[in-house]
Amino acid sequence: MNTGLPSEKQKFLFLKTFGCQMNENDSDRIAGLLKKMEYTVIDNPAAADIIILNTCSIRYNAQHKVYSATGRFRKLKELNKELIIGIGGCVAQQEGEGLFKKIPYIDIVFGTHSIHKLPELIDSVILRRKKAIAVEFADAIDLEDSFDYPLEGSSVKAFVTIMRGCNNFCTYCIVPYVRGREASRKSSDILAEVRRLAENGIKEVMLVGQNVNSYGNNGSDISFPSLLKAVCMVAGIERVRFMTSHPKDMSQELIEMFAAAPKLCRYIHLPIQSGSDRVLKMMRRGYTRDGYLSKIDKVKKICPDISVTTDIIVGFPGETDRDFEDTMDIIKRVEYDGIFSFNYSPRPETEASRYDGQVSDTVRRERLAFLQAFQKEVTLRKNKAMTGQVKEVLVEGKSKAGHSDELTGRTGCNRIVNFCGRRDLIGRVMPVRIEDGYSNSLKGSVVLEQKKVDGGLQKRMIYDA
Ligand code: SAH
Ligand code: SF4
Ligand code: F3S
Repeated sequence: MNTGLPSEKQKFLFLKTFGCQMNENDSDRIAGLLKKMEYTVIDNPAAADIIILNTCSIRYNAQHKVYSATGRFRKLKELNKELIIGIGGCVAQQEGEGLFKKIPYIDIVFGTHSIHKLPELIDSVILRRKKAIAVEFADAIDLEDSFDYPLEGSSVKAFVTIMRGCNNFCTYCIVPYVRGREASRKSSDILAEVRRLAENGIKEVMLVGQNVNSYGNNGSDISFPSLLKAVCMVAGIERVRFMTSHPKDMSQELIEMFAAAPKLCRYIHLPIQSGSDRVLKMMRRGYTRDGYLSKIDKVKKICPDISVTTDIIVGFPGETDRDFEDTMDIIKRVEYDGIFSFNYSPRPETEASRYDGQVSDTVRRERLAFLQAFQKEVTLRKNKAMTGQVKEVLVEGKSKAGHSDELTGRTGCNRIVNFCGRRDLIGRVMPVRIEDGYSNSLKGSVVLEQKKVDGGLQKRMIYDA
């Protein structure tokens, strides 16, 4: 959308993203909309004409980070009265108009359903010199035209939002309040977006939503497995992932996709949250530990080398030592490849924040530390056990930590692999032999192929073939 405003001087946007994949995808859309308004994205807030924070509210700490980040921009606003500061995302949705009272020097508050309105809001601040807000919920996700965002040149993978919102109302979770009811995008729009990404060099897409495997239950035209099949058929796309799945919506048809669709990565993130039936019930998760374990068994039967990760909340109200032992028992049985674990954090409006038996900070911290120490060993052992295997790695870019000719990529099972290689490998899927495993990554080397040339053996890189 071109806002029609004159552009005399170059304008700069500083955009900071907190939270999950949905927010990252939303930020791509925000950057896209502002590029159409002739803003250039920069990493220096001090040089920006607009600062936008796309915020997360999932736990107290996530929300608090937003206030401390904004605090740092107050000085900039004092120095430059023309600077526009906008807060979007889940904290904006949660706080609404009240955010202007909490952070008086901000200009725009825009909610999770109002990204497409951002150009209007910015114009209104510039023209009327007044604060602007949009936090209404919209019913249809496809009414928003902002999925047509421009792509950054070097990216090899992208998130594609297929649905938004959540109808589950787990008793601890703020997402249904800040993202609204579930709504699925039309499959034709999703496929058009995936084709456009592929034409622009994207090799891997991750279909994202708070509850992707309930896609199809809420207004979409096809089921989630059918959507996956169609996305896998898009020419140029080499890998497909999805996140996050809810255990109760993990159908047999979806499980079978792991054997039927070669482009579908052998990786699933299936949050269990707790191993205690009593706690699962209080969380309103809609499955039991046995039900969950039987789905994991089915997945592993169909695809024995699949990598499984999970989310766990420690210290939910009323969680006893016995409940926590049940959680540790599940962790020992499943042997997850990785766990994202969190201390329970009471969130506004949620049912669990009103429950009796809030667990003390000390106990929560002790349990979390115990769980994380245990899992660290498991992840390390599993990563080390990959030594000697050759894995296909999608080369994503230069490694951040390593030396200058080190590249980084991911295996299909979602492990980070660092290895030495030429920069022109970026964007390609390469065979990499794993040489060592650490707690967060693997080290490897690109596989060399032995080839007979004029009677002698010559080593060459397999990718030169
Ligand atoms: N839709 C996904 C998860 C979304 S939020 C699902 O249903 O699994 C990501 C993770 O944050 C959750 O899986 C949960 O482990 C954690 N989380 C959510 N609310 C929380 C809270 N109030 N306190 C601590 N962790 C929380
Ligand atoms: Fe939150 Fe539960 Fe919905 Fe996940 S399924 S987003 S945890 S309410
Ligand atoms: Fe956070 Fe909102 Fe995502 S609360 S986890 S950014 S949906």
